[in-house]
Amino acid sequence: MKFFIDTAELSEVLEARDMGVLDGVTTNPSLMKKASERAGRAVDFHTRIVDICEMVDGDVSAEVTAVTFDGIMAEARVLAALHKNVVVKVPLILEGIKAIRALRIEGIRTNCTLCFSPMQALVAAKAGAQYISPFLGRVDDIASDGVQLLKDIVTIYRNYGFTTEVLAASIRHPIHVVEAARMGAHVATMPLGVIKKLLLHPLTDIGLARFLEDWKSFSA
Ligand code: G3P
Repeated sequence: MKFFIDTAELSEVLEARDMGVLDGVTTNPSLMKKASERAGRAVDFHTRIVDICEMVDGDVSAEVTAVTFDGIMAEARVLAALHKNVVVKVPLILEGIKAIRALRIEGIRTNCTLCFSPMQALVAAKAGAQYISPFLGRVDDIASDGVQLLKDIVTIYRNYGFTTEVLAASIRHPIHVVEAARMGAHVATMPLGVIKKLLLHPLTDIGLARFLEDWKSFSA
């Protein structure tokens, strides 16, 4: 399973990369806004994407903001030209699906975002998306079941042998990651806080404290 970090914050990308388990990065307009707010100035979108690409050896999703076919195509070509690791994030709307197909033909890889139903995911795969991003946390937020959505997508893709990679997104806690791994989702994109939580177990801390204590008295 690949681990991506869901951020546009360079310090967070570095911290996750230095753990040695980072395979890629996903960004979106809201994460860009957050990074700008933290920096106290408007972060240049293209520069930030290139900076991230140079930090991580893996795919980096950069999202279009156009909602027409022509607009999405134009933005996607510019984003894809920034760096070989860029994957263009395209919303799961009619114009987006048309663009995903056309971009596939041009050799530009896409991450189809804002997926909330198995049928949307099926359409995205048929159009030729490299990744599909179901938003687990946002489905849970409306008292529905994000993990079930993910399960349905994985099953449907397996049934037909689609090569589109399932990228579990909008992950809020480690259980989302466990469930995604259990069903064989290809990627989980997580905030830094969730990546760090994957390591935690109280018995590890208690066990380590005991080992160190025993070592101290043994070697004294
Ligand atoms: O990258 C998109 C997705 O992960 C958004 O997450 O927490 O804003 O629902 P969230």
